Amino acid sequence: MRLLIAGGAGFIGSSYVRRRLRAHPDDSVRVLDKLTYAGRRENLQGLPGDQLELVEGDIADLDRVGSAVDGCDAIVNFAAESHVDRSIESPGEFIETDVFGAFVLLEAARSAGIRHLQVSTDEVYGSIDAGSFTEESPIQPSSPYSASKAGGDLIVGAYHHTYGSDALIVRGSNNYGPRQHPEKLIPLCVLNALNGDPLPVYGNGMQVRNWIFVEDMCTGIDMVLERGEAGTVYNLGGPEELPNIEVVKKILELAGRDESLIEYVTDRLGHDRRYSLSSERARALGWEPQVLFDEGLRRTVEWYRQNEWWWSPIRSGEYREYYERQYGRALS
Ligand code: NAD
Ligand code: TYD
Repeated sequence: MRLLIAGGAGFIGSSYVRRRLRAHPDDSVRVLDKLTYAGRRENLQGLPGDQLELVEGDIADLDRVGSAVDGCDAIVNFAAESHVDRSIESPGEFIETDVFGAFVLLEAARSAGIRHLQVSTDEVYGSIDAGSFTEESPIQPSSPYSASKAGGDLIVGAYHHTYGSDALIVRGSNNYGPRQHPEKLIPLCVLNALNGDPLPVYGNGMQVRNWIFVEDMCTGIDMVLERGEAGTVYNLGGPEELPNIEVVKKILELAGRDESLIEYVTDRLGHDRRYSLSSERARALGWEPQVLFDEGLRRTVEWYRQNEWWWSPIRSGEYREYYERQYGRALS
C-alpha cells in the first residue's frame, strides 16, 4: 500500500509511520505536514528514504492536498492543532485545520475513491462522572479543541452517509510516549522534573484521564485501517485511568525528585473532569492495549532522559514564550 499520512511529523503520526513501515516493509508512506511548532522532521529521522517522502504543506490547501493524494491507496489524518490550552488562547487555527482541513482531505479521498481514516479523540464526548463512553454516546465537546475535532468527525459521518465515502473514525484517549511535545501534561512534567522546575498542576489535580501508550494507539489505528467498517467509529481507550496528581507523583518518583516540586496553579477554563472510553468495538476486531501505565511511563521517562538532543531545541524556542504566557513564569 501507499499511504498518505497527514500530520505524520507530529507525535502520534510519526510513531504510526514508524510502526507501519516496520510492520509492512513493502509499503510506502507520503507524509503531508505543515510542520507547525508541533511537527518536526526529526520525528521521522532514521526511517528508510525509499519508503518515506515528506511533503511540507497545509491540509487546508486544496491544490496541495490534491497533488499529495495522487497515487495513494488510503489517507490517515493525524493533522490537527491538538492542545486544549492553546485552543483556549487562540481557537481560530483549530477551526481552520481540524474542521476545514479535515473536509479538504475527505474531499480528496472522495475524488480519488480511497479510504479515509480520521484520527479523533475521546474529548468529543465531553466529560463523564461515572461509567464510560461508547461509540453511541452523544457528542458533547466542551473546549474549542474538542469542538473542532467533533466538527471534523461530523463531516466524516456526513460524507459516508451522503456520498457512500469509505470513511471511518478512531477516537483515542490521552496518549503518552516518546516524541510528545512538552506542552502536554506528561512530557511537561517529565522535563520539568528532570530539570528541577516546578510541576504545574491545574486546580486540585483530581481530574481523571484514561492513558494509552502511543504504540498501543498505533496498533489500534492499523487494525481499524485494515479491518474497520466504513462509516463506523472505533474507540481506542488505554488500560488505566488516573487522577492527574497521581501521574505527577509517579513522574517525580521516576525522575528521583521529591513532591516539593508540585505547584498547584489556576485551573484551566472549562476543564473536563473525567474521560473514560469503552473500546469493545475495537477489541472485537482483535485489538487490545498491551502496555500498562507504570511500564509505559518508565519507558517514556527513560526516552526523554536519553534524548536531550530532541527536546532541548523545543525548550529554548517558541515553547519558552508559550510557557511564560501560560504559566506566568520562566523555565530554568
Ligand atoms: P501533534 O500536535 O503532536 O501533531 C500534529 C501534527 O499535525 C504536527 O506534525 C503538525 O505539524 C501537523 N499539522 C498541524 N496543522 C496542520 C495543517 N494545517 N496541515 C498539515 N499538518 C498540520 O498531535 P498528536 O498528539 O500527534 O495528535 C495527532 C492526532 O491525534 C490529532 O488529530 C489529535 O486530535 C488526535 N489525538 C491526540 C491524542 C493525544 O493524546 N495526543 C489523543 C487522541 C487523539
Ligand atoms: P493535556 O496533556 O493537556 O491533555 P488533555 O487536556 O487533552 O486531556 O492535559 C492532561 C490533564 O492534565 C488535563 O486534566 C489537564 C492537566 N494539566 C495540568 O494539570 N497541568 C498542566 O500543565 C497541563 C498541560 C495539563
